[in-house]
Amino acid sequence: MTNSHWTRLIRDVPGFPKPGIVFKDIMPVLADAAAFDDAIEALAAPWHGIRIDAVLAMEARGFLLGTPLARALGAGIVPLRKPGKLPGRVFTQAYALEYGEDALQVQADALPPGARVLLADDVLATGGTLLAAHGLAKQLQVEVVGVSMLIELGFLNGRARWDGDAPLHAALVI
Ligand code: PRP
Repeated sequence: MTNSHWTRLIRDVPGFPKPGIVFKDIMPVLADAAAFDDAIEALAAPWHGIRIDAVLAMEARGFLLGTPLARALGAGIVPLRKPGKLPGRVFTQAYALEYGEDALQVQADALPPGARVLLADDVLATGGTLLAAHGLAKQLQVEVVGVSMLIELGFLNGRARWDGDAPLHAALVI
């Protein structure tokens, strides 16, 4: 398995950020250069040779993965940010988190309509964040070519909520 090196560095943190939740901490993966490389390749593998203009990445841990992923695929990066962080006209999409509620925004002129994008994040949990990202992609009128997640929490079945036509790839399903 090419991903054995990065997956062994994922750390379980019970009780964070709330009792009953076991947080998947990927910071040790990112701190190890070889593991970071392996993780980015695990995210990129299905998309090599496919034209992708930009990666749409979800704040905040999605930025850490989405940016090197974008460059590995010859693509740009468009951050989907928490409210109030982006200047100019923005599109907004509210969503329910595994723990709480929030919204994501994107700059309305980030990409031309019809641009080919990949949605990327560190964790697929309930799928609420992914749905919000998809909503922003629709508002931008871009074409979602695929979804790339580092970790899918299979027991939460967020995949069932993915309402796009494009394939959803998870580098590791837990
Ligand atoms: C976490 C994670 C995903 C999202 C997944 O983000 O990074 O974006 O939750 O959950 P869902 O599938 O249930 O929506 P968080 O809001 O904790 O933000 P962070 O990356 O800024 O820590």
